[in-house]
Amino acid sequence: MSATRASGRCVTLKSLRVLTTLLIITVPCISACTYKPRSATPPQQINTPLLSNQSGGSFTISNRGQQSLQRPQPNLSAEQQLEWAVGKSFATQAWVSAPATTTARDGLGPLFNANSCTGCHVRNGQGQLPEHGPGLILRLENASSSYGEQLQDMAIPGVQPEGRIRWQTGSTHTAIAGGEPVQLHQRDYHIDSAPQLATSARLAPALIGMGLIDNINDADIIANSDPDDRNGDGISGRVNLRENHNGTPPRLGRFGWKASQTDLHEQIALAFFQDMGITSSLHPPRQCIDTGCKTSPITSSELEISDKLLGAVVDYIANLAVPAAAHDELSQQGEAIFARLGCSACHTPAFTIRLPSNNFSSDEAQKYLNTEIAAETIYPYSDLLLHDMGDGLADLQPSDNTPANEWRTAPLWGLGIRTKNSHNTRLLHDGRAGSITEAILWHGGEADASKTSFSLLSHPEHTALLHFLKAL
Ligand code: HEC
Ligand code: HEC
Repeated sequence: MSATRASGRCVTLKSLRVLTTLLIITVPCISACTYKPRSATPPQQINTPLLSNQSGGSFTISNRGQQSLQRPQPNLSAEQQLEWAVGKSFATQAWVSAPATTTARDGLGPLFNANSCTGCHVRNGQGQLPEHGPGLILRLENASSSYGEQLQDMAIPGVQPEGRIRWQTGSTHTAIAGGEPVQLHQRDYHIDSAPQLATSARLAPALIGMGLIDNINDADIIANSDPDDRNGDGISGRVNLRENHNGTPPRLGRFGWKASQTDLHEQIALAFFQDMGITSSLHPPRQCIDTGCKTSPITSSELEISDKLLGAVVDYIANLAVPAAAHDELSQQGEAIFARLGCSACHTPAFTIRLPSNNFSSDEAQKYLNTEIAAETIYPYSDLLLHDMGDGLADLQPSDNTPANEWRTAPLWGLGIRTKNSHNTRLLHDGRAGSITEAILWHGGEADASKTSFSLLSHPEHTALLHFLKAL
């Protein structure tokens, strides 16, 4: 099937991915920019090695230390590095409430969850549990409740926050053949001012390879989906198609634990708006429906972040480097076990992407040049599809247009770096798991058979599998 793809240089580094296999459409521009149509030869299959240390293709850096999630990808020009640093400052430094002496970074709130991106995505890694600081949010299904789609638990001076995050804890033990019994921790989160409302707790994920995920072709994600389980393997990944309700065709979601956001630009504009209370052309000043907002002294109708600065933050996130994997002989054995247990049915090791030769959207000079497109392989270990993960991981209610028990396969690149320090290791959508083994033992639903086989591994097999996972 042939299809037309539209490319969006100024939205972000990415071409606007049209649902190539489903639809042939023209897509309206998200912000003020000119799309260039790009022909849609499908990615040429390049010979994909089973294991590679080049996790992020040309974005890979050898650093696996503390700073490794905060580095630029290695191919930026000196000028682009400067622009990247501008984006970085708007993502990492604290925003303040208006009016303030700094007009560039004011506009926080009136309601918000944290005052910077890295307040939640700590050093671009995962967030913290609420007792340690920001990083976990509560999404709400019933957007018409006075809380909107998300609880904002902070507010600028003079405004009441909507409520506070509270929780009850529980835990059980489970035995595994090759090791000590493992404790499985669980928390039920609620809002103190409305304990009856069902919530969906979400931990801030690590921001690894976002620009690369943004460039995976829709068709390649759809190719792995099998909603009716036609191949009978018990695994039925589903795409999260986002309806637009304005006559334009649905778009494929890929970001967030529910794959609810369709592209990086959109995801980041939403983060500014919902997590920090900062308006942009995608989310102009809100109509006041939230409780705290109604009592706010601030009634600004100006956009709090310009398209240019929003683009700079998108470029910053999109052009973060991916740390190299550290595979050796034992990881090869571990990888074979990973495949045998069926983990790779959802944690798809590799995608071939076609990356524009210049990933910098705000680079005016490049915008009108013919971009060369190079095919390369990346190793995110996720199909980016939604799976039924069983009752143990399910929320009480659906949210983000997905059933309560469905979650996007978590990408595993950088897992070793994210779990290096056992004190702040937090895995799964609500951060309940404190170790890789615990995260795997929470798997259920479509992953039940895989989990059971995992719990029957011999000690040496268990060691090899964990060695492989930690080398990612
Ligand atoms: C209050 C905490 C918080 C703040 C502040 C925050 N985020 Fe997030 N971020 C999250 C959570 C939680 C998710 C997952 C949301 C979901 O699953 O619905 C997320 C998801 C994302 C994702 C998608 C990740 C993926 O794996 O799909 C990106 C990209 C992102 N945030 C970037 C940003 C940027 C850039 C900023 C600053 C403008 C920001 N975030 C501010 C908590 C936060
Ligand atoms: C049916 C699909 C499926 C299978 C099979 C599967 N997983 Fe997962 N995996 C997921 C999903 C979905 C999540 C996110 C679940 C959540 O957060 O609630 C996840 C999360 C994880 C995490 C936590 C990552 C993080 O960043 O929080 C690890 C580790 C993991 N899986 C490893 C494995 C291993 C090892 C196997 C094989 C024994 C496996 N998975 C099999 C779908 C699957």
